Amino acid sequence: MLVLGIETSCDETSAALVRNGVEVLSNVVASQVEAHREYGGIVPEVAARAHVEAMVPVVGEALAPAGGRPDLVAVTLGPGLVGSLIVGLSAAKGLAWSWGVPLIGVNHLEAHAYSVVVEGMLPETPFLALVVSGGHTMLLEVRGPLDMEVVGETLDDAIGEAFDKVARLLGLGYPGGPVIDRISAGADARAVTFPRAMASSGDYNFSLSGLKTAVVRYMEKAAPRVGAPTVADVAASFQEAALEVIARKTVDCALELGASSVVLGGGVACNTRLRTMLEESSRENAIALVYPSGSLCTDNAAMVAALGYFQHELGGRMLQLDADVYPNLRPGTVVPGSRYQIDA
Ligand code: KG4
Ligand code: ZN
Repeated sequence: MLVLGIETSCDETSAALVRNGVEVLSNVVASQVEAHREYGGIVPEVAARAHVEAMVPVVGEALAPAGGRPDLVAVTLGPGLVGSLIVGLSAAKGLAWSWGVPLIGVNHLEAHAYSVVVEGMLPETPFLALVVSGGHTMLLEVRGPLDMEVVGETLDDAIGEAFDKVARLLGLGYPGGPVIDRISAGADARAVTFPRAMASSGDYNFSLSGLKTAVVRYMEKAAPRVGAPTVADVAASFQEAALEVIARKTVDCALELGASSVVLGGGVACNTRLRTMLEESSRENAIALVYPSGSLCTDNAAMVAALGYFQHELGGRMLQLDADVYPNLRPGTVVPGSRYQIDA
């Protein structure tokens, strides 16, 4: 079965063609990072308009290897920016209707959890997925394609958002995560002791807004003197505080759930220090750490097509022509049914 996936939840327009949920024939991603750089963050209206511009060429390129119409269209229904999601869903409805094929709606976070399936690395269930990006910091227990549950999440800022805000404060540009990652490598992560928020909260939730404020306060008070921490030392100290709690809770959560593997997803999963921390503690605890290659870690439609395929196989609910998007869609949620048959 050939599945066309469409993903527009944030600032990447992506379309992919995946056969039988595992074989990626195309995975086209148009990034908008340049359009948002001057604002130092994602501007929702700019994102939605950029999706409109990119949609037709991106889908056209993704469909090139198809040699006919796909058998199923899978699209991200949420969570994400409402305008961006609407562009993707509208395109998906038009294509599914004109081809007369079923349409399935996929949760973006659940798709991240399943991204490794197209690289043949899907672990035995139950496994734990850690999704860390500009918009999300979440732990998901994965029991199957239609059976996932949130077991931990941020109560305020997302981890990537914290990296981006701290980078802006330190004058390091946008997006900030990759720069902080790079300059932290040779820096002193113990130069400043920032708070480890919710480290002993007794659950698997996170809080990152206080850490960002702690960096603001530190920078306000820091007086230039010989031997003072450098910008790289401050960045590394922030990174250490932010990631230490995430890495520790992830492994503790996997142990409590009896999950023998942890799958990583989202842009922050590219972070070198996070990978090292997780590799060390998962090895000590006999947990397998699985991360997809770079282009499957960040937002992409191949993961949407893949999960859509497996959900369809299990009888997941198909969307109709009046289907809506869900900016706050939580993993594990079944969206309400609707009346207008796509293939009527
Ligand atoms: O998954 P993604 O491409 O887009 C969404 O947020 O949906 O993630 C982007 C985020 C940005 O906040 C960026 O600063 C962060 O991921 N990021 C990183 C690294 N690479 C990207 N954060 C820390 N270390 C990195 N190496
Ligand atoms: Zn994402």
